[in-house]
Amino acid sequence: MTIVMPTIKPVDGRFSPGPSRKRPGWTPDFLKDAALGRSHRSPLGKQVLKEVIDLTREVLEVPDSHRIAIVPASDTGAVEMAMWSMLGPRGVDVAAWENFGYAWITDAESQLPLKDLRILKADYGELPDLSQYTGDRDLVFTWNGTTGGARVPNADFIPTDREGVTICDATSAAFAQELPWDKLDVVTYSWQKNMGGEAGHGMIILSPHAVERLESYTPPWPLPKIFRMTKNGKLNESLFEGSTLNTPSLMCAEDHIETLKWVRDQGGKKGGLQWMHDRADANFAVLQDWMDKTPWIENLCAVPEQRSNTGVCMKIIDPRFAALDASAQSAFASAVVKMISDQGVAYDFGSYRTAPPGFRVWASGLIGKQDILDLIPWLEWGFAVQCEKTFK
Ligand SMILES: Cc1ncc(COP(=O)(O)O)c(C=O)c1O
Repeated sequence: MTIVMPTIKPVDGRFSPGPSRKRPGWTPDFLKDAALGRSHRSPLGKQVLKEVIDLTREVLEVPDSHRIAIVPASDTGAVEMAMWSMLGPRGVDVAAWENFGYAWITDAESQLPLKDLRILKADYGELPDLSQYTGDRDLVFTWNGTTGGARVPNADFIPTDREGVTICDATSAAFAQELPWDKLDVVTYSWQKNMGGEAGHGMIILSPHAVERLESYTPPWPLPKIFRMTKNGKLNESLFEGSTLNTPSLMCAEDHIETLKWVRDQGGKKGGLQWMHDRADANFAVLQDWMDKTPWIENLCAVPEQRSNTGVCMKIIDPRFAALDASAQSAFASAVVKMISDQGVAYDFGSYRTAPPGFRVWASGLIGKQDILDLIPWLEWGFAVQCEKTFK
């Protein structure tokens, strides 16, 4: 059988979950006037960092009651500084359903370690029973499981009048999914996911309840400098005004400012944040419609309302593929990705190395719907060619 190669390629074939593609029309021109080669502690440097904080509040619609800071070591740094600074005085639940959530389990179980710990764990593509969370304990969880394609549909499982602190790793959810600020005491993310920013910097957003915890509790373990959010028992307010714990990149900060402004200006009356959410939803819908009508592939997440609109994870269900052993399945899926990459069509859309073999296509708001539509025939082509090679 002749398998016909598609002719139309996505205009932008970058489908990586992070660093993800930059906003449409991005150029480095803004760097001409950027605060490069200046100290981050100079008035100019601080002004740039404060602008990131102010624009984040505006574009991400963070309430005035919450504090926002730029912290070291990307999203991982932000999650771990919250865990190390706040956990201990109460029992802790860690809810996890993919690679990064599992890392927070390791932190809680083997590194801190916490004495009164309950693990709510599920496999890739699924959610654990979150109704077990009752609000009297602290909670660490990932809003959108980037490597498993499953997200919490809402925060109804978190009581508003809880005593525990909720720490939410929202790195692939922020700017794509609604975050209910009254339910989340710590929200973290990094710039290189849904905003197409540069890597290395974390954002941490604290509710008044989180600040209360920081000011009323001193952990028994050592706290590295890059985790310290308090000074003499009080919140280090300067962090939330543009000071940082160590040296940030002003180049990356300027880049992020440009994207925050760009997103702010999209969407007309409904606003940039909603525009980003709607675009991710529309991109996801294209992929889901295709999976629904294609017999050999389906969403790794079986429950429709739990499906991610950013890292859309897909599994191959063709019976011939299912009959292969795990390493042959992995090799098959990787070969399809490589074949399409080698044609200069699309990149970085293989499933995460610890996830079930298949594809993960980044669908967030900065990705164009037409690019996803144009990717699909290539997925069909790659699958058909690899079937012919493998099952002839
Ligand atoms: C859910 C989640 N948490 C944490 C991380 C780690 O993020 P970073 O590399 O910004 O530290 C990632 C990266 O993909 C992620 O998807």
